[in-house]
Amino acid sequence: MKGLILCGGISTRLNPITYSIPKQLIPIGNKPLLAYTIELLLESGITELGILVNEFNKPIFERVLKNYFNDDFHYIIQYEPKGIAHGLLFAEELINGEKFLMILGDNYFDFNLKDFVKDFETGYMNCKILLKEVENPERFGVAYIGDGRIIDLEEKPKMAFSNWAVTGLYAFDNNIFKASKKIKPSKRGEYEIIDAIKWLLQEGYSVGYEKINGKWRDIGNPSDVINQNIDILSSIKDNIKGEIVDSHVSGRIILGNGSAIYNSTIRGPIVIGEKTIIKNSYIGPYTSIGNSVNIEVSNLENSIILDGCNIWGVEDPIDSSIVGEGSMIMGNKGKKKTHRIIVGRSSKIYLSV
Ligand code: DAU
Repeated sequence: MKGLILCGGISTRLNPITYSIPKQLIPIGNKPLLAYTIELLLESGITELGILVNEFNKPIFERVLKNYFNDDFHYIIQYEPKGIAHGLLFAEELINGEKFLMILGDNYFDFNLKDFVKDFETGYMNCKILLKEVENPERFGVAYIGDGRIIDLEEKPKMAFSNWAVTGLYAFDNNIFKASKKIKPSKRGEYEIIDAIKWLLQEGYSVGYEKINGKWRDIGNPSDVINQNIDILSSIKDNIKGEIVDSHVSGRIILGNGSAIYNSTIRGPIVIGEKTIIKNSYIGPYTSIGNSVNIEVSNLENSIILDGCNIWGVEDPIDSSIVGEGSMIMGNKGKKKTHRIIVGRSSKIYLSV
């Protein structure tokens, strides 16, 4: 089976980070979110992959993914973000009438994909979806189940009468292209994948489902990014290539080549990239720090710091934060307490005493 990963669209809830990097490439534990999905697909035997992107982001996807995979992926362009069911139509030629698996590039899955794929490949179904019981179903597509069958589906209902969210992993046969051409845009103006699957259901095609037994997260807003970082860092193993001098380190830590920690307290799990220097600081659990970052006389924890950042003199901890590439944060340690700020479009700053 072939795989199709949807990374088109525009993500506004993660602005301003997504001004410079598509949300599917945000590093989680210093690896792009999308790389986890590609690994899952490759491990389950799906090696021919199409990646749907918008025309502006194609070069950045190519550049970033080349650092992680030798494989050549098919990049497909969706010129306007008119919805998931609109996006998949651009892949019709690549899929070429075969059964295929589609994953939303902003979703994270940790489950046995191999069995899911095998079941669909050898079975009679026209479509199979993956469900997860959630507390906030209104944020997702929702499935209504009766007598062990899907009886209805609804995209982000105002009030959901089922807690079964439709996750962003779908197995389809060729009929999904027919369905996606038949449906009309929803109230929010998008060709919804839920409506296309509902069309299949109403036309008598077989739509099956499986309840996910592993982990799933839709990365939609900054707290999802932070929580996913916690999950990934929870299972890292020690790997220290850099230098640790006069410092107290507890917990698990990954420290890249050319990086150094001087006179600091480090409480893992923590991932630190290459050529990063940390001096006279406290770095608390669940922190991912990229390459070529400088941190001095500062406190931070439970955060993601992208490449090339400078952080100095931040006494009260930076917590649950995401700091975009090349940013600078100057604290006021030893100085008069003032706020001096140079910020770009749509920045978010939380100043609390
Ligand atoms: O995460 C699961 C949910 O994903 C499902 O429960 C919903 O039924 C489904 O509609 C979808 O909802 P979202 O509102 O979370 O979709 P979002 O707009 O965030 O897009 C999901 C992915 O698809 C993301 O990687 C971008 C890509 N996409 C999106 C649109 C609108 C495209 O490639 N093209 C598009 O036109």
